[in-house]
Amino acid sequence: MIVLGIESSCDETAAAVVDENNRILSSVIASQVAVHRQYGGVVPELASRMHVEAISPLVAKAVHQAGISLSDIGGVAATRGPGLIGALLVGFCFAKSFAWARGLPLAGVNHLEAHIHSLFLTDRELTFPFTALVVSGGHTNIYHVAADNRFALMGQTRDDAAGEAFDKVSKMLGLGYPGGPVIEKLAKTRDPDQIHFPRSLLEKDSCDFSFSGLKSAVARHIHENPVKSTKDKALVAAAFQAAVIDVLCEKLLRAARSMSCRQIGISGGVSANQTFVTTLEQRAAREQIQVIAPPVSLCGDNAAMVAARGAVMIRDGCLCRLDDDVYSRALPSA
Ligand code: KG4
Ligand code: ZN
Repeated sequence: MIVLGIESSCDETAAAVVDENNRILSSVIASQVAVHRQYGGVVPELASRMHVEAISPLVAKAVHQAGISLSDIGGVAATRGPGLIGALLVGFCFAKSFAWARGLPLAGVNHLEAHIHSLFLTDRELTFPFTALVVSGGHTNIYHVAADNRFALMGQTRDDAAGEAFDKVSKMLGLGYPGGPVIEKLAKTRDPDQIHFPRSLLEKDSCDFSFSGLKSAVARHIHENPVKSTKDKALVAAAFQAAVIDVLCEKLLRAARSMSCRQIGISGGVSANQTFVTTLEQRAAREQIQVIAPPVSLCGDNAAMVAARGAVMIRDGCLCRLDDDVYSRALPSA
């Protein structure tokens, strides 16, 4: 079945068409980053308005680029939560109307489960059970994924998400929003061991995260050693990134080991960080664990992952009704 996917939970409007073999027929994204960058972060009301403007032409573009006609679409999937309420409403209501008008089944997709499903859109074979990380601007969650529809949360952040920490440190260094890509680029130029920042590993068996102490340590360091040059900024960026990566790797391997998983899948915006991917691959290989990461184009928010998750939900009869609502935080499933 061909599924139309729609994503609008934060600052990207996205539409995609995916077929029954998880082949992406089209995937288009209208990013709002340039607008939000002027404010140093996402402005929810602006996000909603821009989703309204973008959604119709974007869906038309996705259908056109897929080379299909509307009658080829067998189901609709849209992100239902978590995310910004106003933003979510735009995509979800559009999907409801589209599904109702064409008599199609509708799946209300959990955004975090969608990120995990981006792992099924790679050419690497992923088999259950596996350990999954969703690491983005809003979440740092580890799941044990036992089978389709079975996501058990093993750990999450107790304060800031890893991506949020990248964004805040970037702001402290005057590098702008979003922080991840620019910190990664700067960090490549310097030795990460010149400065040492703390790694919060919490209790011995915990798979939870805490990044607020690291963020404060960076703030303290910058206060005591003002960053004057690009070189100063790069040293802080490299040391900060190394601390985040170290903790992410440690917790992921801890989780995989405890459930005897041979595969770890990473997804979400921060998994676009190639230093993270290669470090994790090297450390996991020592324990014969394979790492699967989506291509960079599928790490951030996109609708192909929503369609892929929705296809499973539609197949399994997990459908939405027209009076179902979006949710900002509550996580019915993942
Ligand atoms: O998944 P995503 O696009 O949106 C959310 O659902 O939050 O993730 C965005 C986050 C931002 O915090 C951004 O700074 C971070 O992902 N990010 C990165 C990189 N690219 C994006 N973090 C580290 N390294 C990167 N290369
Ligand atoms: Zn996301």
